[in-house]
Amino acid sequence: MSLQKDIRRLTAPDIRARKGGDPLVCLTSYHAHTARILDAYCDVLLVGDSLGMVMHGLETTVPVTLDMMILQGLAVMRGSKRALVVVDMPFGSYEASKEQAFLSAARVMKETGCGAIKVEGGRRMAGTIAFLVERGVPVMGHVGLTPQAINTIGSFRAQGRDESDWAPIEDDARAVADAGAFAVVLEAIAEPLGRRITEQVAIPTIGIGASVACDGQILVLEDMLGLSPQVPKFVKRFGELGPSIERAVKGYADEVRARRFPGPEQVYPMRKPKV
Ligand code: KIV
Repeated sequence: MSLQKDIRRLTAPDIRARKGGDPLVCLTSYHAHTARILDAYCDVLLVGDSLGMVMHGLETTVPVTLDMMILQGLAVMRGSKRALVVVDMPFGSYEASKEQAFLSAARVMKETGCGAIKVEGGRRMAGTIAFLVERGVPVMGHVGLTPQAINTIGSFRAQGRDESDWAPIEDDARAVADAGAFAVVLEAIAEPLGRRITEQVAIPTIGIGASVACDGQILVLEDMLGLSPQVPKFVKRFGELGPSIERAVKGYADEVRARRFPGPEQVYPMRKPKV
C-alpha cells in the first residue's frame, strides 16, 4: 500500500533551501479551521506560545505548558496539508538541559506529527540546538526580543535600538545558525540590524518587526486580522475581524430578542396530516 499523499508537506530542509529566494510567508496558527485557510498561502504555520495570550488571555507566555502546545499543534496538523508546522517549545520545557529539551521536543513531534520545533535564545541555546539537530529534531531559532524572558528583560521593547547593542544580537543569530537551526526568527529589532543579520547568516531569517530585508515574515494571525485588543506598533492590520464579529453577534442577539431567529419550525416544517 502506498503512503504517498497527493500534497507533499514542506520540510525544514525545504525552508532552509529558500535562503535568499522567494520570501517565506509565515503566520501563527492555533486551530484547525484557520490552519486550513492559511495552508494555501503559507510556507510555515507556527503554533506559537503566543497562544497563551491570544487564546487564553494570559499576560505573558510564561505560564504556557507543553500540553497546551501539543493540543493546538495537533489541531493545526489536522487542519493543514502543505505548510511546515513548527511548534514552539514553551518556557520551562527545554532550558534546564539538552536532555530535557530532547525529551520535550520528542514528545511534541511524536504527539503532534509536526515537522519542527522552535526555541528562544541565542548563544546560550546553541549547544542544545546542536544536540537536538544531531538527534533528528529540526530547530527554528528565535533571537532579538525573546518574550519568554520577559521577567528578566522587564518589557516587550524592541532590541538593538542603539548600534552599541547590536554585537550580542548578531552573535546570537550566528550561534543559532552555526548550531544547525534551519531558520531563525528575528523579533522586534532595529531595521538595519535585521538587514545585517540576514546578510551574515546562511539560514533564512524570519522577521517580526525586524526588516523587510529578512528572508521571510511572520505575524500573529489574530493581530493582523484585527482581533487582538492590543498589538505591537509594527503590526499592519490586513483585516478588521473584531468589529465584524461584533456586528454579527449584535445581529444575532437582536434577532433572538425579537424572536425572529429561525427555529426548528422553519428548518423542519411540520408535515400536513394525511387525510
Ligand atoms: O509565539 C509566537 O507567536 C512567536 C512569534 C511571535 C514568532 O514566537
